[in-house]
Amino acid sequence: MNRPLTYLVANWKLHMTGKEAKNFFRELLPLSLPSSVRLWIAPPYTAIPASISCMANTPFLAIGSQNVSMHDQGAYTGEVSAAMVRAEGCLFSLIGHSERRTLFSETNATIKEKIKRALDARLIPILCIGETIEEREQGKTRVVLEEMLDTTIGHLSFREARKLFLAYEPIWAIGSGRAADVEVVSEAHLICRQYLSRKWKREGEEEMGECIPILYGGSVNPSNLAPFLDCKQIDGALIGGASLKIETMRQLIQLVEDRLT
Ligand code: PGA
Repeated sequence: MNRPLTYLVANWKLHMTGKEAKNFFRELLPLSLPSSVRLWIAPPYTAIPASISCMANTPFLAIGSQNVSMHDQGAYTGEVSAAMVRAEGCLFSLIGHSERRTLFSETNATIKEKIKRALDARLIPILCIGETIEEREQGKTRVVLEEMLDTTIGHLSFREARKLFLAYEPIWAIGSGRAADVEVVSEAHLICRQYLSRKWKREGEEEMGECIPILYGGSVNPSNLAPFLDCKQIDGALIGGASLKIETMRQLIQLVEDRLT
């Protein structure tokens, strides 16, 4: 198994000006992290340059975007391309977050294009997938996750697929204050890993399902992070609300440190 790192990925959503981001980083940067931990932050586009300007000498830290356009360039008012955020210094981009799907009508077909643009721009795509509560109650979780994966990344080459990250974010857990149980998350991650290994088989190569980092997202906070860190199927967390306050971030980092040192 080749997944030695733990990731805390912050999704700031529609919060933080450039100035507020700078203040946040001023308090964050003196914190130290174990060498096996990565703290990645996705500010809104306008706070990306300010966030990146704060990052000198912090190898554990990286900045990414919350979205990218499905287009490279052209007459697409209001859009921001993968190459543009890469040029600003971003390392990764969230793609296909459920809020993009439900509030901004993104489909698996548009998400497929975005993944391609991100890979072309050498951004790490963090593909977000997850089922609704109705789908879960109807026993459709496996079918829904596999379809989301197949229609967005199923066409990629082995080398392209190897660069992906996944975030399993059951829609019913996002922003609800009620995180999914670790057993539920572990099972969903296993479904994803089995799909990845089945899809990209290559003689003499490590199983794809063992290589790709898969994060859990949905109401993660300092009181529920620990069991996720202890689960082998889970490589870290995608954190929304709890990532906005420096004090809760400090607690989350402390938890990771306590677990890993
Ligand atoms: P939440 O958001 O932690 O506020 O539930 C997670 C996400 O939407 O990525």
